Amino acid sequence: MVDLERLQRELDTLATFSEHPPPAVTRVVFGEMDLRARAYLKTLFAEASLVVHEDPVGNTFARWTGTHPSLPPVATGSHCDAIPNAGRFDGTVGVLGGLEAIRMLHRAGLTPQRSIDLIVFTSEEPTRFGIGCLGSRLLASALDQSAGERLTSDSRSLNEIRASAGFSGSLADVPLRAGAYAAFVELHIEQGPILDRDRIDIGVVTAIAAPASFRIFVEGEGGHAGAVLMPDRRDAFLAAAEIALSIERIARSSGSIDTVATTGVCELFPGAINSVPSRARLDVDVRDIDEGRRDRVLADIMRACDTIAARRCVGVRTEPINADPPAHCAPAIVDAIERACDARGLQHRRMISRAYHDSLFMSRIVPTGMIFIPCRDGISHRPEEYAAPDAVSRGVEVLADTLASLAG
Ligand code: GLV
Ligand code: MN
Ligand code: MN
Repeated sequence: MVDLERLQRELDTLATFSEHPPPAVTRVVFGEMDLRARAYLKTLFAEASLVVHEDPVGNTFARWTGTHPSLPPVATGSHCDAIPNAGRFDGTVGVLGGLEAIRMLHRAGLTPQRSIDLIVFTSEEPTRFGIGCLGSRLLASALDQSAGERLTSDSRSLNEIRASAGFSGSLADVPLRAGAYAAFVELHIEQGPILDRDRIDIGVVTAIAAPASFRIFVEGEGGHAGAVLMPDRRDAFLAAAEIALSIERIARSSGSIDTVATTGVCELFPGAINSVPSRARLDVDVRDIDEGRRDRVLADIMRACDTIAARRCVGVRTEPINADPPAHCAPAIVDAIERACDARGLQHRRMISRAYHDSLFMSRIVPTGMIFIPCRDGISHRPEEYAAPDAVSRGVEVLADTLASLAG
């Protein structure tokens, strides 16, 4: 049985490590709160007698050693960083729920043949370094060690920042070798409305939509807000605003509801009320379950940037961040999750994940599956994010049973 009281207490405690007051949770990778959250998690791992190891980028592996430690282990886990003004369940349910699943199997007197690793991935969220799934990308060799110098935050490199957070060693040592794991299963809130609306206990993920992101730099001409006459302006913000509106229009006319595009960051220079913006930067996120359609949308956005730049006499430059293919879950893991649901009499439904997860990258190197639980009204990436204790508990039970069946 799940020790729900303890798990809820641990979720509550983890939520206190936040850069913003409750109910908001903000935990930026390698910030003070992230480091305190990691320290807290490590005390819980030690209490559960798990053997902890951290790699050079801070991915944390807590191992329950099986009776046949030479067999490739099975893994579970998720992330504990949180975007600004987020909620308390994104990622954390997969970390603390994964821990509770291990403790539950332990309490039931089971020792698996294969070891079970609980992984806390570094920086699933793109907040600090601009790119999502940093830790799992490196594990899957989808990013090479040059990222250590190339990725920056406030003019400091990833290498510098991870070293001051206590993570040294070469990023070349992060990638997992082929066959390192027999299976990976991630427990996560759905972050969409389907399970909650249709009162389904468990979502069994079959595929993860293809995410892409890029930056747009607009160079116009600044000047005095009172003195520069309207016909003479080359306002970088207004060009950026037009670009953002075209991005919305292009995504909405892709022919599919599965295309989504978001301009989530807009930075203006110099950022003064009485100064015409001379520079603007937009960060844009585009996703679709169909990679070809997503790429056509990206191409249309690039063309719109050129048209708007010419008409408004500004410079526009785009810089890609990532354009990842979709992921497909392993049929054997999907089946194992469904069997676990059936054995407990739980309602389940196959679904795609529109959000990305570390599973997007783990699936490249390990047969992977995901267990979704409902979250209220599908709300996520907001302080109102909520998963009911019963829903969390059912997710942990299904995870524990799935891990037990995969680990033997
Ligand atoms: C993950 O947080 C995502 O943006 O899908
Ligand atoms: Mn998230
Ligand atoms: Mn997440």
